[in-house]
Formats: sequence, structure tokens, C-alpha cells
Amino acid sequence: MTATASLEQLRRCHFAVDLGAARTRVYVKGAGVVVDQPSVAAVNTRTGALIAVGEFAEKMTGRTPDYIRVVRPVSGGTVVDIEMAQRMLRHLLGDKIRRSLRRKPILRAAACTPHDADPLAQRACIETLVGLGARRVELVDTLIAAAVGCGLPVERPEATMVLVCGAAATQVAVLSLGSIVNAVRIPVGGEAVDHAIVQHLRHQHELMLPSQSVRPLQLALSGNGLTASGPASTEIHGRDVATGLARSVQVDTAAVRDAIQTPLTAVLDGIGKVLRDCPPDLVADLADRGIMMVGGSALLPGFDQMLRHATGMPVHIAERPEVCAVEGLGAMLEGRIEPLALDPLSD
Ligand SMILES: Nc1ncnc2c1ncn2[C@@H]1O[C@H](COP(=O)(O)OP(=O)(O)OP(=O)(O)O)[C@@H](O)[C@H]1O
Ligand SMILES: [Mg+2]
Repeated sequence: MTATASLEQLRRCHFAVDLGAARTRVYVKGAGVVVDQPSVAAVNTRTGALIAVGEFAEKMTGRTPDYIRVVRPVSGGTVVDIEMAQRMLRHLLGDKIRRSLRRKPILRAAACTPHDADPLAQRACIETLVGLGARRVELVDTLIAAAVGCGLPVERPEATMVLVCGAAATQVAVLSLGSIVNAVRIPVGGEAVDHAIVQHLRHQHELMLPSQSVRPLQLALSGNGLTASGPASTEIHGRDVATGLARSVQVDTAAVRDAIQTPLTAVLDGIGKVLRDCPPDLVADLADRGIMMVGGSALLPGFDQMLRHATGMPVHIAERPEVCAVEGLGAMLEGRIEPLALDPLSD
């Protein structure tokens, strides 16, 4: 199911929101991206009061006394706690921006939702923004928003392939003439890759890895990309599962690379499926243009090389891939893009 509003409606919106499983981003017309923070809130369970949101709340994860709970109101790419998502957004926006939005006689908002978002998930997103004062909410398919945001010529009659690598999911689509020809959403993203690494260390080395140590290990893996061999082993500091004491181990990088093959293979299968179901004329365009990677997990070291190797297609990473979707929404709000071919011509 695609939920993409017309450009005409989008141009009338005052702000746009990308509520991601990992991060929340907000674009305000005329001001640009004003919020780019983790989708996290910390709540005092005794009083119900909000203690922190965004970066600060994320830092509290795993470090709170038992009366403080760190919550993520967006999960798997959809809003699962509407009230908490509203409170989080209100705080992330801050008083100044909220005051200026409240001055609009009819506040209009846009949001992007995952490609296969069901009516319930779309409703949750709309209600979240209605709670923020929006009188109208336009939904845009994340795949379209991201493709626009990375400057793909979506409105032309040529096929392009976009791979949105999020935290909770990876979405892949072939786009032509401003709409989605074929797409799939694979429920595997950056979180699954991090999880596979943490599980590997726990099982093979009886080591608990603090979440902030996953990234350096990924970098070590990528010495020469996920496909080739970098350094044979790397030293990792963590905590012993049994004793709880600090310990460091030499980790075999090839074994970790194997551990993350499962989530990455699921992504490859998704790409294969989209290509198989694609009309032959478009496949020829794709072989030329290749795949454009967007989303935070596009930065996973060596991921692009692995895709290049496995598909034989050119693979590009967008400039600032993590903000493509929200920047795409922004471009639509500002009227910076050509009318999509399928929008009715105005005369
Ligand atoms: N430099 C990096 N290397 C590897 N992974 C990264 C890097 N930067 C961000 N990520 C990963 O990207 C993910 C966040 O990407 P993004 O901001 O696109 O997610 P999101 O939009 O919140 O999620 P979703 O679209 O799935 O709801 C996280 O899983 C994070 O671990
Ligand atoms: Mg996203």
C-alpha cells in the first residue's frame, strides 16, 4: 500500500516529520531540519513526568534507577505509543518552534510512513501529529521521500532503485514516473545487525558488549569491506557474562562477519525479489544506474561493497544518507521539486 499525497497538498504543509525507530527528524518550512534526535523518552514511573527526551534520554538507557523508565514510542517503524510520541515530539520541538507553528490558522503537517504501513499504523502517525495541533496530515511513502531527498530523478520515465536502510527495516523499491513500480520491506535493519554482533560475542566469547562498542567493531570488520578480509582479529572490551567483570578478548573478525551475514542475506533476497518482479525494460535502466543507498544503516562499513559484489550492479551511498527522507519531505514542502509526472497538470 502506498500513501503518497499530491505535491500540491504537500506544498501547503508547514512542517514534516519522520518518526523513525531510531531517530525522529522534523523539517519546518523555511527553517530546514530543526530536530534530529533519538526517538527516546525517559519517564518517571512514580509521577508519570517526562524527565528527558532525545540524546539525553538515550544516554540514560541502562543507567537509570528503577523508578525511571526509558521508552521508545516508535518501534518497528511505526508509532506504538501515540501519547508518548506526542510528548516526545513536543519536547523535541521546544517552545519557540511550537509557538510559531501554533500561529498558523490551519496547521498542516506531512509525515513519511514505511512502505507497507497498514491503516492502523498510518492512523497512529496521523493521530500523533493531530495531537501536536495539526488539522491536516499528509502521508508520504518513505521510499518516495527518500528518493526525492537524495536527488534521484524520480519523476522521469527511467527506472531508479532506492534502498532505504533504516534501524528497524530495509525497504527497497524500483521507482519510475514518480511512483513505485515494485517494492518490498524487509524487517531487518541496523538494529538486527547490531544485535547479531552482540549475540555473537555473548555466545562465542561470553562477553557482554556495551551498545556504544558495536560501532568500533563494525569499523574493524570493514578493514577491506564486509566481503574481503580486514585484520584477522581485533581486541574488544566488554563485561564477562558470568562474573560481570571487565574483560577484553581477541575477536576473530571473519567470524563476526559471518554472524552478520544472516540479516544482510535477507536484504539481498529482498533486492532479488524486487528485480525479479520488475519489467525487463526497467531492469536495463537499473543495470546502468544501479542502487542508491539511503538511511543511517547505509553507513554500515562495507555494506555497499557487499551489495556491489553480490548484485554486480553499481551501488552508490547518498550524501548524508540518514537525512534523505526528511530532506525529501522538506523539498516537497518548499516546492523545490518538479511536479511528479502522475500529478494532474494544472492549467
Ligand atoms: N556510521 C554508521 N555505521 C553503521 N550504522 C549506522 C551508522 N550511523 C547510523 N547507523 C545505523 O543506522 C540506523 C539508524 O538509521 P536511520 O536514522 O535511518 O533509522 P530510522 O529512520 O530511525 O529507522 P527506521 O527508518 O527503520 O524507522 C541505526 O540502526 C544505526 O545503528
Ligand atoms: Mg527512517
